[in-house]
Amino acid sequence: MSDDLERLRADAVVSLSQAADLRAWDAVRVGVLGKSGSLTALLKELGKAAPDERRARGAALNALRDELTQLIEARRMVLDEQALQARLAAEKLDVSLPARPREPGAIHPISRTIEEMSAIFGAMGFTVGEGRDIENDWFNFGALNIPGHHPARADHDTFYLPGTRDGRPLLLRTQTSDVQIISMLEQEPPIRVIAPGRTYRADHDATHSPMFHQCEGLVIDRGITLGHLKGCLIDFLRAFFGVEQLPVRFRSSYFPFTEPSMEIDIGWNRKTGELGGGGDWLEVLGAGMVHAKVLANCGLDPREWQGFAFGLGIERFTMLKHGISDLRTFYDGDPRWAQHYGFNPLAPANLIEGI
Ligand code: PHE
Repeated sequence: MSDDLERLRADAVVSLSQAADLRAWDAVRVGVLGKSGSLTALLKELGKAAPDERRARGAALNALRDELTQLIEARRMVLDEQALQARLAAEKLDVSLPARPREPGAIHPISRTIEEMSAIFGAMGFTVGEGRDIENDWFNFGALNIPGHHPARADHDTFYLPGTRDGRPLLLRTQTSDVQIISMLEQEPPIRVIAPGRTYRADHDATHSPMFHQCEGLVIDRGITLGHLKGCLIDFLRAFFGVEQLPVRFRSSYFPFTEPSMEIDIGWNRKTGELGGGGDWLEVLGAGMVHAKVLANCGLDPREWQGFAFGLGIERFTMLKHGISDLRTFYDGDPRWAQHYGFNPLAPANLIEGI
């Protein structure tokens, strides 16, 4: 190798070994192989050499370029590894340190309600299912007998998302009723499922949050009647609120996916907020017998299979049970609120029977 190439090589090797970080490394790389790098300059001058000299020098230059490219790459791997090790050392967490006692955690009241509902329905033979927060409009509306022009679609203030699934527009589900469809498509009847989960509507004030929770329930079997629906929900409401003789009223209503449909009220005292025989009524549930069209949409023969469904707002149930007056406080993340309304998972008094 001629002297100038030897020198170029030696210089590059020294600068590379001195490059202590990726920035310095990159400067060396550009200085040698970049557009105006030292080696690139020599390659450009090659054209001026006499033909026989050109061949020998060209081969030497190419060999040098290959060698330096490899050395540069190798140095980069060393620096990458060093950077990774430094980061790992800096980000090390001592998980054996005791928790900071000033900020103890607590089970959020919403989670608590979901656990209690799962325990009560679990004891009645229900399993706990789950839908999808991102749903297509068939599962959220179409299969539930809410066609495109139906006013219920407008009522729901839906958050639509870009894109489609199975050719249908995507949205954030406005109700947990999608789980009715998912359950009937995925399971063979008899079905007994509840599905607590997040739901979304473009609505925000003291009594509405754009994200909230519902719990859906679905029973499908042969010979299911309105009597089953009533018995199941009365038992549930009395168990959940812990009021043995809680008055429960079934009021005729309308949902596109149930027929007949009803809204369900519990007795309370409007002035004191106390649940029971206070003379006032408070709506807490939507329910009904699963519509024949919905059964058929899921491939079930309505002459053979019947069922009932219900849906409730988890925030509302939680507020009623624990005397929480402002919906927005659920999502403020205020540790004092969590301490006051939350539950210590280790306190024996907070154990939930049945789970
Ligand atoms: N999905 C209804 C709502 O969000 C509630 C409901 C569920 C009603 C199941 C009937 C049956 O208001």
